[in-house]
Amino acid sequence: MGALHYLFLFLTLSALSTTTLAHNITDILSGLPDYSEFNKYLTQTKLADEINSRETITVLALNNAAMSALAGKHPLSVIKNALSLLVVLDYYDPTKLHQISNGSTLSTTLYQTTGNAPGNLGFVNITDLQGGKVGFGSAAPGSKLDASYTKSVKQIPYNISVLEISAPIIAPGILTAPAPTPSDVNITALLEKAGCKTFASLLQSSGVIKTYQAAADKGLTIFAPNDEAFKAKGVPDLSKLTNAEIVSLLQYHAAAGYSPFGSLKTQKDPITTLASNGAGKFDLTVTAAGDSVTLHTGVDSSRVADTVLDSTPLMIFTVDNVLLPAELFGKSPSPAPALEPVSAPSPSPATTPSPAPASVEAPSPLAASPPAPPSETPQGAPSDAPVGSENSTADNAAIPVTAPALFTVSATVICSILMS
Ligand SMILES: *[C@@H]1O[C@H](CO)[C@@H](O)[C@H](O)[C@H]1NC(C)=O
Ligand SMILES: *[C@@H]1O[C@H](CO)[C@@H](O)[C@H](O)[C@H]1NC(C)=O
Ligand SMILES: *[C@@H]1O[C@H](CO)[C@@H](O)[C@H](O)[C@H]1NC(C)=O
Ligand SMILES: *[C@@H]1O[C@H](CO)[C@@H](O)[C@H](O)[C@H]1NC(C)=O
Ligand SMILES: *[C@@H]1O[C@H](CO)[C@@H](O)[C@H](O)[C@H]1NC(C)=O
Ligand SMILES: *[C@@H]1O[C@H](CO)[C@@H](O)[C@H](O)[C@H]1NC(C)=O
Repeated sequence: MGALHYLFLFLTLSALSTTTLAHNITDILSGLPDYSEFNKYLTQTKLADEINSRETITVLALNNAAMSALAGKHPLSVIKNALSLLVVLDYYDPTKLHQISNGSTLSTTLYQTTGNAPGNLGFVNITDLQGGKVGFGSAAPGSKLDASYTKSVKQIPYNISVLEISAPIIAPGILTAPAPTPSDVNITALLEKAGCKTFASLLQSSGVIKTYQAAADKGLTIFAPNDEAFKAKGVPDLSKLTNAEIVSLLQYHAAAGYSPFGSLKTQKDPITTLASNGAGKFDLTVTAAGDSVTLHTGVDSSRVADTVLDSTPLMIFTVDNVLLPAELFGKSPSPAPALEPVSAPSPSPATTPSPAPASVEAPSPLAASPPAPPSETPQGAPSDAPVGSENSTADNAAIPVTAPALFTVSATVICSILMS
């Protein structure tokens, strides 16, 4: 039955979105001064969030002496890549290290999931050597095993194991890869390449791109709707919005601060966007289910789809839907996230390096056509009427309010279930 299906979805979403974290790497290392530098960088690069949001992992920790090979010598984005290579997506305690079949194995690391690792550079080679020694090195052919296991730090079977190794694992090119400063990154060009031409063109024509570029150095996370999203049913006619509304809408698609995928997954508080001008205004709430993260506006919601750029402190994601802030498009902003069956948890991880999971369709020729520039809005047209007036039905509202329809349908479904 349809209703039961929705109820099940609703309950599943509720259950999953309140999942508590199994471990806290910052806490595990906090009592151990030998790892204070390593711990500090896990926090700065937000790798701690990524580690805490996963199970069955092994963290290869560097003590302060070993960490001095990296700390302060490279840009944060490079250090992040190097440390991602020390987070193995499998559980190895000291016993298992010595029971590797055939004495040698290649194991996936977090670096492999970032999309920054070409070929098999995101894998590490773990080899049980003569005399009980265990060596670690890059999986790239010809690499030496230049780190070795020194001691166990902590195990919570089979959730997380922390093992100390003697030195960083250096994959070829990982320290010399270009690390562009965020102010030099051409956000427009990246967005166009990622299938977000409409969004990029709106940023340019409205001038909001300057706000984005200016914020990038201090930390910025962008949620860019793909071109399909702008053509979806329920998206308001942008040519009917005022310039100020367009600016707010675009500012709503970015948040100050660097929030990579793992941080979104562990995010509990609402996200303040660049459009926020007061408590609770223009916020986004976040729910996570498995490897899927969904943003909720109170009017609609969207899955976080792909990573376009992860270069500390600038993060760019694509999203499947245009995020419609309740302050512009909702009659009464709802504090509870809207249930939207369309964005049900998807098994595809958003951090996969491959171009596109199911959500992003091949761009149609129409996708390339730029939207009507906001300046075309006629002066004194109905669209200049104040937004958020108490009485805004679809007929007299400043903006055609078609978007809340789905929310209303979902809410009605839930209500009718609860009442039956
Ligand atoms: C491991 O993680 C699971 C799932 O988060 C949790 O239920 C379990 O209690 C954890 N095990 C330990 C020993 O903490
Ligand atoms: C993890 O532990 C640190 C230090 O004890 C604490 O400040 C932080 O809030 C914890 N994080 C979570 C998500 O509980
Ligand atoms: C171990 O090595 C043998 C011979 O090279 C191979 O056939 C086998 O698949 C290996 N086992 C594993 C688990 O890698
Ligand atoms: C790991 O590295 C060693 C030394 O370079 C090499 O002999 C071994 O074949 C590698 N293991 C795997 C599984 O590739
Ligand atoms: C950024 O890229 C866009 C589109 O590719 C181009 O039009 C623009 O001139 C570039 N901006 C800078 C500052 O290079
Ligand atoms: C809102 O508009 C509707 C239809 O135009 C009207 O019937 C109603 O009285 C209005 N309510 C208020 C509070 O102005």
